[in-house]
Amino acid sequence: MPESDPPVPRKLFIKTYGCQMNVYDSERMAEALGAEGYVTTEAAEEADMVLLNTCHIREKAAEKLYSDLGRLKPLKAERPDLKIGVAGCVAQAEGAEILRRMPLVDLVVGPQSYHRLPAMAKAAERGEKTVDTDFPPEDKFDHLPDRPRASARPTAFLTVQEGCDKFCAFCVVPYTRGAEVSRPADRVMKEALGLVQKGVREITLLGQNVNGYHGAGPDGDWSLARLVRELARIDGLERIRYTTSHPNDMTDDLIAAHGEERKLMPYLHLPVQSGSDRILKAMARKHRADDYIRLVERIRAARPDMMLSGDFIVGFPGETDADFAATLHLIRAVNYGMAYSFRYSPRPGTPAAERSPVPAEVADARLQTLQALLTEQQRAAQAAMVGREVSVLFEKPGRMAGQMVGKSDYLQAVHVKTDAAPGTIARVKITASAPNSLAGEIA
Ligand code: SAH
Ligand code: SF4
Ligand code: F3S
Repeated sequence: MPESDPPVPRKLFIKTYGCQMNVYDSERMAEALGAEGYVTTEAAEEADMVLLNTCHIREKAAEKLYSDLGRLKPLKAERPDLKIGVAGCVAQAEGAEILRRMPLVDLVVGPQSYHRLPAMAKAAERGEKTVDTDFPPEDKFDHLPDRPRASARPTAFLTVQEGCDKFCAFCVVPYTRGAEVSRPADRVMKEALGLVQKGVREITLLGQNVNGYHGAGPDGDWSLARLVRELARIDGLERIRYTTSHPNDMTDDLIAAHGEERKLMPYLHLPVQSGSDRILKAMARKHRADDYIRLVERIRAARPDMMLSGDFIVGFPGETDADFAATLHLIRAVNYGMAYSFRYSPRPGTPAAERSPVPAEVADARLQTLQALLTEQQRAAQAAMVGREVSVLFEKPGRMAGQMVGKSDYLQAVHVKTDAAPGTIARVKITASAPNSLAGEIA
C-alpha cells in the first residue's frame, strides 16, 4: 500500500453567539475537528471551514445568522472550497430551511449532534451537504475526544446539564436544547480533574437549569450541591461557580453549600423575569414574586455577602403599568449587583407568541426605566467595593503595561499593577470603581 501523505492542516474559524453553553460547545467542536486535522484561526478570510454557532433566544439574535451568512457570500464566491457550517440553536430550530434559504451552507448541525460533526465535515469535503438535528439517545460528550485544551486560560466552563423542562411561555430553549439531561457525575469529575491538571483554577458549571442537576453517581444521583462539594476537594481547583439557576430548583442543600464551601463563589445568577405575580403566571414561571424575594433572603442568610444577578423581560404580552411597577419594586427589594434585561421578543412556536403584544414604544420606555434602575444599582455595588479587600484570580495582561486583569469573587473585572502570572490568586485592595470594572493594588 502506498504511504499516504500526512494531512495538510486545515483552518477552522468559529464564531460564537448566545450563551456560555455555546462558548463551551464551540471549544468542544474545535477539539473534535482538531482530531480531524483542523486548527483554529482568528481570521475568517483564511479559513477552510467557517462554523457559526448560533443563538435563537430573541429575534435579533437569530437574524444575525442570516446577515453574517450574507457577508460570507463574496468569500465563498472567491474560494468555492470554503466549507460553511451552521451549529447551535438556530440550526436546531430551522434545520434544512437554512440550506434552502442559504445555498452556500454545507452543513447544519444541532446542539445534540456535535459528536457527528467530524463525519459531517468529511462529507462536506466530498461536496455533500448534511443536516443533523436529531436528539440522539446517547450523550454527545461521550463521543467527543478528551479535552486537549489549547487555551491556557485559568478559567473554564464545564457543561454538566443541558436542556430544559420548564417551558416558560416565551422561551425557545426547551425546543432547541431538548429535555433536561444531566451528565454522569464521574464524567464531570474526570473532566474537571483534567482541566485542573492543565492549569485551570476556576470552573463554571453550566446548564440551562444547572441547579436541577441530578447526575448518576457511584452512590446514587448527585445533586448540584453534592457535585460542588466533591469538586471542592480537588486540590488546585480554587473557585467554583454555576449558571443558570431557576428559583424553584434552589434547594436547601445548595443554599447551605454557599455558607460552607469556601471555594463556592458568592455570586449567583438567579433570573426572575418579572416582579408581577400576574405576569409570572402568564409566563408559566411557577413561582410568585414573594417566593423569589424570600428565597433571596434565605440565600443571603447563608452567605451575607452574596452578589445577585438576574434577567428581566419587559413588555411581555399583557404587561400593564402596575405589573411593570411590581417589577421595579422587586428590583429595589433584591438590590442586584448586575442584571440583564430584554424587551420581550415573540418566538415562533412558543405559547406567548400567539398573544397580543404590548406596543413597542411602551415596552421601550419601560426597558429604559428598568435599565436606569439596574445601572444605578450596579454602579452603587461597584462603588461599595472601594476600600475593601477581595481575592482576584488574574486571567490575562491588561491594556496598560505591567497590568493584569482578573475577576473578584463577585465576578467583577479588576485591574491591578502587578507582574503576577495568569492563574495567580491574590488579595487586592480596591482603590477605584467604574460601572463595569474596578482598579486595585496588591494588599
Ligand atoms: N435558562 C436560563 C436562561 C434562558 S435564556 C433561565 O432560565 O434563566 C436567557 C434569558 O433570555 C432569559 O432569562 C430571559 O430573560 C431572556 N429571554 C428568553 N426568551 C426571551 C424572549 N422571547 N424575549 C426576550 N427575552 C427572552
Ligand atoms: Fe427558558 Fe424558562 Fe427553561 Fe430558562 S427555565 S431555559 S427561561 S424555559
Ligand atoms: Fe441562545 Fe441556545 Fe443559548 S437559544 S441563549 S444559544 S441555549
